[in-house]
Amino acid sequence: MNTGFYLHSSLVFLLFLVYFNGVRLHVESPQLSVSATRGSTVTLPCHYRYEPELNTTRRTRVKWSWLETEVMVAMGNRQRSYGSFRGRVRLRRSAPGDMSLVINELHLNDTGRYRCEVIDGLEDESVTLSVSPLSPPCTGVVFPYFSQKGRYHFNFLGAQQACEEQDATLATFEQLFTAWEEGLDWCNAGWLADGTVQYPIVVPREGCGGVDLAPGLRSYGQRHRLFHRYDAFCFSAAVKGTVYFLEHPSKLNFTEAVQACADSGAQIAKVGQLYAAWRLMGLDRCDAGWLADGSVRYPIAKARANCGPSEPGVRSFGFPPQHQKFSVYCYQATLV
Ligand SMILES: *[C@@H]1O[C@H](CO)[C@@H](O)[C@H](O)[C@H]1NC(C)=O
Ligand SMILES: *[C@@H]1O[C@H](CO)[C@@H](O)[C@H](O)[C@H]1NC(C)=O
Ligand SMILES: *[C@@H]1O[C@H](CO)[C@@H](O)[C@H](O)[C@H]1NC(C)=O
Repeated sequence: MNTGFYLHSSLVFLLFLVYFNGVRLHVESPQLSVSATRGSTVTLPCHYRYEPELNTTRRTRVKWSWLETEVMVAMGNRQRSYGSFRGRVRLRRSAPGDMSLVINELHLNDTGRYRCEVIDGLEDESVTLSVSPLSPPCTGVVFPYFSQKGRYHFNFLGAQQACEEQDATLATFEQLFTAWEEGLDWCNAGWLADGTVQYPIVVPREGCGGVDLAPGLRSYGQRHRLFHRYDAFCFSAAVKGTVYFLEHPSKLNFTEAVQACADSGAQIAKVGQLYAAWRLMGLDRCDAGWLADGSVRYPIAKARANCGPSEPGVRSFGFPPQHQKFSVYCYQATLV
């Protein structure tokens, strides 16, 4: 009898082990990248399930994080949001296991990588999604550009050439309009591809069309393509290569900077390439570096103290004398 009892109980124990070892936690997302415009509501899909299905409810914890910071932690019906996401995020919970994150009033700086992590006594699984700032038909970035020789230097042809030299093209009206919707505010007029001269204003103010005009694109209309001179609005589509900050033991003057990129098998980056890398790839570096046109800039994807204004952006030092010493950004074309 005793023998039978032991046999029986160890059999039960064995089944129990197999059962729990056999359970798998799956965390899934049908859509790993989401594009959205500023101010809109986005849903980052994420759900989990057990395989085989569990009958008992488990104390499953869900954590959403963005870059390295916590966005939301939820357990059961309780949830908490953090930082600049507080009050703007919730879990969708449209079905059991649905832990999709709904973000309201998307900020420009909400873009980047999000992680949906499900933590259970058994296992800890996660999935990473990315949010990019642009709606799909417009995968590029508009940037204002002026000449090393000063402001309002380009006629229409000069503006076209200047953009091309930065690996970009003159922006169209639609591209500038989208950039304005996404927060571009620039109080200097520039040529567009259709031969008009305009500038985007988000916060109306004196000297930029005045405080009585609504936010929007201020237009000078068609200007004389040969005789009138302005800055340019350039458009850079996704770069087919990599822009990177060159780690170098010392700061460099402009000629040394050009050489240092060449020595590392690359080229000194152009302004359009830096903008595209900043906007579309999230390049972020708080170190000023030379670029091919002789300007000095640095890309900030996530604004922070001591790295310029409180909005993300490409910061510019203008065109310093070329003997001055800075770091450098290089561009490595993708090998085909
Ligand atoms: C889950 O419950 C069903 C009936 O409700 C039962 O047939 C099944 O064996 C249970 N599964 C587990 C793993 O307990
Ligand atoms: C992101 O932008 C919003 C407004 O657009 C601002 O209130 C917030 O402080 C910014 N957060 C960071 C981390 O820069
Ligand atoms: C940069 O420094 C090198 C010496 O390392 C010098 O030959 C060159 O003329 C300098 N270039 C500029 C633009 O000052």
